[in-house]
Amino acid sequence: MMAVLSISKTLSGLIAEKSERMAVFMQPEADDFVRGDPHFTLIFNAVSKLLEDDCHVVLKNIGFNRNRTIFESFVKLFGRYYGNVEYTGIKLDCAYSGCHYRPIELHTDDAIDSVQPKYGFIQVLREDPCGQAFGWNGVVPISKIVWDLQANDPALLEALLNHPVPMLSYGVSAYGESRQEILIKAPILVHQADEYWVRFDLTRIRFHYYKKQLSIPQEERLMIEQFLDVCRHHRQRYRLSAGDMLILDNQRTLHDREEASIELDETGQLNSREIFVSFAYED
Ligand SMILES: [Fe+2]
Repeated sequence: MMAVLSISKTLSGLIAEKSERMAVFMQPEADDFVRGDPHFTLIFNAVSKLLEDDCHVVLKNIGFNRNRTIFESFVKLFGRYYGNVEYTGIKLDCAYSGCHYRPIELHTDDAIDSVQPKYGFIQVLREDPCGQAFGWNGVVPISKIVWDLQANDPALLEALLNHPVPMLSYGVSAYGESRQEILIKAPILVHQADEYWVRFDLTRIRFHYYKKQLSIPQEERLMIEQFLDVCRHHRQRYRLSAGDMLILDNQRTLHDREEASIELDETGQLNSREIFVSFAYED
């Protein structure tokens, strides 16, 4: 099951034309324009339907790239705005996992937050310099994990629904101002209103045990390893080209990124995969 929505050449051309016209717009004007525009609305409606059915979409050939204002207006169509468009490249001296070249493990975004973002948006501004082998994204719809476990390992499903796992962070994200300690203990899966939701970030779990100088209980370690095993089995991978956007239901999927590469040029500048990331919350 690949959830790829490719925008036709003509529709994409129309969006590109409008994007040029919007170059002089301030953010509120851009927001109003995108909200009222029939072509942006066509894309929004199709994406919404796919998110409902498959919990994620890869949007190709949308007609704008590296345009913070339009990206922000587009995100705002989907719910209450996160407040920021985050830019990330790959760096040599990266203090957190998002800008490191190492692979990023399957996770949900802002898992530590009391209210998780509903939708996550990643637009690739520039592709990995090393081409096809690097920087792929992976997505795991959580419904697939639940179906698998219901049939093959109901005990693990019970554990994931009932065993609270600690996560620790100073501030919600690397970008936020606050560095206040946040500690939550919550099961990885939640069954609510006939849906299964997921909240998982292994780096926050590990950070908790590291900071509190505790060792992770053997049962919990085993549960997490088995969970990740099943997830990897159902993982779908996508290679996003420049301009492509991955849109995720952040409560019903996990996502990751494979190893990235770094290119060094003659001025000492590093070139790498670059992305915009933002979120929308349920209103
Ligand atoms: Fe993420």
